[in-house]
Amino acid sequence: PTIHVITPTYSRPVQKAELTRLANTFLHVANLHWILVEDSQRRTPLVARLLRETGLNYTHLNVETPRNYKLRGDARDPRIPRGTMQRNLALRWLRETFSPNSSQPGIVYFADDDNTYSLELFEEMRSTRKVSVWPVAFVGGLRYESPKVNAAGKVYGWKTVFDPHRPFAIDMAGFAINLRLILFKPQAYFKLRGVKGGYQESSLLRELVTLNDLEPKAANCTKILVWHTRTEKPVLVNESKKGFTDPNVEI
Ligand code: UGA
Ligand code: MN
Repeated sequence: PTIHVITPTYSRPVQKAELTRLANTFLHVANLHWILVEDSQRRTPLVARLLRETGLNYTHLNVETPRNYKLRGDARDPRIPRGTMQRNLALRWLRETFSPNSSQPGIVYFADDDNTYSLELFEEMRSTRKVSVWPVAFVGGLRYESPKVNAAGKVYGWKTVFDPHRPFAIDMAGFAINLRLILFKPQAYFKLRGVKGGYQESSLLRELVTLNDLEPKAANCTKILVWHTRTEKPVLVNESKKGFTDPNVEI
């Protein structure tokens, strides 16, 4: 199957570095299609050029998250979680591009631009029949969060401290979905409004599967194959207001 990797991304000083690192990982993965969705009014030349030069198979999309939605704790407009509109646009693109009856086998994976992905992860997710799951390091205030797997290899709960009673207490990086399921449930999207922190993943997954359907990967969820890393903001104080370095040099 083709692995359709969906990545929301937004402009900031480290964006090109993040996307370069991600592309370097993806170049080692066979049959990968990168759906990169910019959180911007238009597709930027920086990202367009980067994608072209990687030689990867890709689709370049964009949708801007309305400014006022980005603010956390705004009473009138509760914050839309980061990357949500972008992931939903990619889901719509998949549904418009592939027909449910086409036998094009595919896997869908949501890969944020700042995480760290092992190559083994992509081989694990390739055999996903409905939804596969695995642990994610550095989330929820723990070394890792993980699905709980019983002796029969079934997921029966979540080893998390933050709200383990969520329907799917799992980070965005911790699951992959068979494309067929995405196509057969065309109404399933991430909810944009009224989603409490940590419930975004559940808002999509509950439309697609039940706990009983989940397929544990990574040696029954005993191996860490993905890390929820976050990149430190670079210190640019010496640029001052007008900028010290040449603004025409792309970083
Ligand atoms: C955590 C989860 O791991 C994310 O999957 C979830 O979207 C996010 O929380 C959330 O708050 O909703 P975190 O590391 O805090 O992740 O979030 P970021 O990595 O900053 O953002 C997630 C993705 O959205 C990234 O690929 C980022 O480039 C993108 N993003 C972020 C945008 O497209 N626009 C933004 O304004 C911010
Ligand atoms: Mn992140």
